[in-house]
Amino acid sequence: MVSFATYLFNPSYHLKMAHYLLLWFLASSYLHTSVNSCIDEERRALLTFKEDVTDPSGRLSSWVGLDCCQWKGISCNNITGRVEMMNLQNAYMYTLSAFDGDWDEMEYSSLGGKVNPSLLSLKHLNYLDLSKNDFRGISIPEFFGQIKSLRYLNLSSASFGGEIPPHLGNLPNLNYLDLGEESDYSLLELPSENLNWLSRLSSLKYLNLKGLDLSNTGVNWLNVVNMLPFLVELHLSSCQIQSLPPPGNISLASLLILDVSFNDLKFPFPEWFFNLTNLRKLDLRGNSLSGPFPIEFESLKSLEHLDLSFNSLKGQVPKLRGSFCNLKILNLAQNQFDGGIQELLGGLSSCPNSVLESLDLSSNMLNSQLPASLGMLRNLKFLTLYNNNMNGSIPESLGQLSQLVHLDLSFNPWEGFLTESHFINLTRLKYFAVGRVDPNPILPIPLTFKVSYDWVPPFMLHKINIGYCKVGPAFGVWLQSQTKLLFVKLRATGISDSIPEDWFLKISSQAQYLDLSYNQIHGKLPLQLKFSYALILDLSHNQFHGPLPLWSGDNVVRFKLEMNSFSGPIPWNLDQKFPKLESLYLAENHLNGTIPPSICNMRNLLVLSLRSNQLSGEFPREWSLLPDILILDAAYNNLSGKLPSSMGALGSLFLLKMNNNNLEGEIPLSLENCTSLRNIDLGDNKFTGKIPSWIGLNAPFVSILRLRSNFLSGHIPQELCNLENLHILDLALNRFSGTIPKCLNNVTALKLWNPLHIGLQ
Ligand SMILES: *[C@@H]1O[C@H](CO)[C@@H](O)[C@H](O)[C@H]1NC(C)=O
Ligand SMILES: *[C@@H]1O[C@H](CO)[C@@H](O)[C@H](O)[C@H]1NC(C)=O
Ligand SMILES: *[C@@H]1O[C@H](CO)[C@@H](O)[C@H](O)[C@H]1NC(C)=O
Ligand SMILES: *[C@@H]1O[C@H](CO)[C@@H](O)[C@H](O)[C@H]1NC(C)=O
Ligand SMILES: *[C@@H]1O[C@H](CO)[C@@H](O)[C@H](O)[C@H]1NC(C)=O
Ligand SMILES: *[C@@H]1O[C@H](CO)[C@@H](O)[C@H](O)[C@H]1NC(C)=O
Ligand SMILES: *[C@@H]1O[C@H](CO)[C@@H](O)[C@H](O)[C@H]1NC(C)=O
Ligand SMILES: *[C@@H]1O[C@H](CO)[C@@H](O)[C@H](O)[C@H]1NC(C)=O
Ligand SMILES: *[C@@H]1O[C@H](CO)[C@@H](O)[C@H](O)[C@H]1NC(C)=O
Ligand SMILES: *[C@@H]1O[C@H](CO)[C@@H](O)[C@H](O)[C@H]1NC(C)=O
Repeated sequence: MVSFATYLFNPSYHLKMAHYLLLWFLASSYLHTSVNSCIDEERRALLTFKEDVTDPSGRLSSWVGLDCCQWKGISCNNITGRVEMMNLQNAYMYTLSAFDGDWDEMEYSSLGGKVNPSLLSLKHLNYLDLSKNDFRGISIPEFFGQIKSLRYLNLSSASFGGEIPPHLGNLPNLNYLDLGEESDYSLLELPSENLNWLSRLSSLKYLNLKGLDLSNTGVNWLNVVNMLPFLVELHLSSCQIQSLPPPGNISLASLLILDVSFNDLKFPFPEWFFNLTNLRKLDLRGNSLSGPFPIEFESLKSLEHLDLSFNSLKGQVPKLRGSFCNLKILNLAQNQFDGGIQELLGGLSSCPNSVLESLDLSSNMLNSQLPASLGMLRNLKFLTLYNNNMNGSIPESLGQLSQLVHLDLSFNPWEGFLTESHFINLTRLKYFAVGRVDPNPILPIPLTFKVSYDWVPPFMLHKINIGYCKVGPAFGVWLQSQTKLLFVKLRATGISDSIPEDWFLKISSQAQYLDLSYNQIHGKLPLQLKFSYALILDLSHNQFHGPLPLWSGDNVVRFKLEMNSFSGPIPWNLDQKFPKLESLYLAENHLNGTIPPSICNMRNLLVLSLRSNQLSGEFPREWSLLPDILILDAAYNNLSGKLPSSMGALGSLFLLKMNNNNLEGEIPLSLENCTSLRNIDLGDNKFTGKIPSWIGLNAPFVSILRLRSNFLSGHIPQELCNLENLHILDLALNRFSGTIPKCLNNVTALKLWNPLHIGLQ
């Protein structure tokens, strides 16, 4: 504590105060001549440091002028003016988005190059953070070991490489040492001789060695760590630790947080481990733990956070008898626990009051009912039972979990009803999932929503994910009231109502995902809506009618309206509405008119499905503009004229279905460039001429070839026998002459092949 008197009488305080006054009251021209609180020697040291680092994005561009205390990343003691902190962490966040540009971006804002020993002039530097930069495998400078004032050193994910200099052990004041590597692949190695340098860091409170290989150190890392009397937090994730060494005299008395996730630990654990009775957080994710939950864990009575996910634990979910009354977060996901959770809840019920906030039991083999005692977990915020085998009905006591924010009950074969009582006090619920997510098996689960039409729920969800589970027939008030949704999946929920335009309007401004498929929703859709954030819009398999909605969205990649009763033309400007579209499904509607050529401007298009409509006229000539298209299905329409010869440019084409139209002329030779074709159906048209021999020569993967019912003539080419994968060949009802090539008997994959139906005259 610095006394007020010190402030008043310290000259640098006055200088600083004067500086601020100048900032407030004087014209900016004064600033350059204003006094500074930076020590000149330290300023020069920093400039020397700056000269040696690479800085492509100009993060150090503020490092000019006299007052180095104002430079970005630098903090000085506000009394002495000494540089105490250098925080040069690369703040750029790598997001797991689809844009590979992110890596470049992160690289761009990284510092690199060399670390100049000029930093040794910063005699009071106690905080140095170079994390998330890219020093391209250069060694950690040995001189760091001479910055005796250091308390905090963060070199995590900074791509330093080689052996860690044991000189780091010369930092008697160091409290925090972070050498962890977020990507799991550390370029660093421990010094080969021993870890004694580490044991000399006698003030250490925090140590992170994530990603370093501890398996071949030939030393007992545990003994070393055991010599750090103040160690509170130890992170040894992904360190290739095979087992916990057995020595008998481990105390680690001050240790509160232990992260040994993603190693290769197995049970049994040595006895000393269960003496770590002060531990608050234990992370054992992703190890090789198998068998039942060891009862010895009960001695870890202080645990607030226990993570055993991604292991192979079996048997009953642990009872946690009264000894885990401090537990706030329990993660047992991705194991093989079976039975139910009665035991768990029974154990917790012996605590004076439950403080459990997060319970993740997803992806186990739990196979009994959810007990009503669930309701006593009054502080539960996060509950996921995703992907188990829990059956029976869901207890109404669920509705008592008034703190619940995230509830995932999906992928369980529940039965019975979900009623208003189940949600009665869930005022904070933001995420709700139940049912199945994929259509296999397509049967709905026998769980039904039974709420009155005008029920107003207490929650305002951000995500709703219900699949193959009966919600309808009404799109009741409870759904209409959910207008803040970002993610909507109501697939195969038996809704056979119409949806108010207003609801679409409200969610369109924020929704990222909208799937209402496989219901019987009827009515018209609002004609114009802008989905600024949506990636996927799927209204397929319903009974919408009226014209195709002219919706838009700059980020939409999938737009599915198939299997409805839309009529009229395909809008001519879809390309402008959905510039990033990858798949467009309009099949099985009543669309008429011609295919607008502008569809070919959607350069990202992979799938175009127009099957079973009443589209007429010629195929747009501009097909060659679609560089990546894989699936083109325009079967069962009334298209006429010739196939455009430009079609051959579609080298990626996988499936081409144009059957049951009025197409004529020859099968274009240009298709020979479509060397990836698997499935060709041009049957039931008026094609003339010969079967082109390229089918056997240039498209080796063809497995279905259907040219039935055309006016094709000439010989059946021998080259067809080259199609090793040919599975279905239907050439019936044409005007071929000559004989059937005998070699076709040698195409072993050929199953549906009836020589009588080949249509030879
Ligand atoms: C000086 O720094 C200390 C610690 O960072 C802070 O608590 C205090 O408010 C600062 N004083 C002034 C005048 O900025
Ligand atoms: C070190 O930096 C990384 C990345 O910038 C950060 O996530 C981590 O929390 C820091 N370590 C400490 C001990 O503050
Ligand atoms: C155990 O450690 C304590 C202090 O760390 C020490 O005094 C004692 O001698 C050790 N005992 C053995 C058997 O190593
Ligand atoms: C565990 O702690 C108890 C009491 O502190 C001590 O007697 C015992 O030796 C310890 N066991 C091990 C294996 O360290
Ligand atoms: C739930 O599943 C278990 C185990 O498969 C079975 O014994 C039990 O009868 C089922 N209960 C209900 C209500 O279906
Ligand atoms: C719902 O919460 C209120 C206030 O917290 C409480 O009085 C009421 O008993 C709760 N109802 C149920 C069914 O848990
Ligand atoms: C399309 O169908 C509508 C009736 O649904 C009809 O009025 C219109 O003339 C048709 N247009 C074309 C180009 O066939
Ligand atoms: C198909 O198009 C032809 C003209 O190309 C037209 O004569 C015929 O009536 C159309 N058939 C249907 C069912 O629309
Ligand atoms: C087939 O591809 C080749 C090479 O890309 C190109 O030169 C040729 O014009 C294409 N043929 C047709 C008919 O598109
Ligand atoms: C079928 O294959 C066999 C063995 O590969 C070959 O001897 C025979 O000539 C082939 N028959 C025809 C008709 O190509």
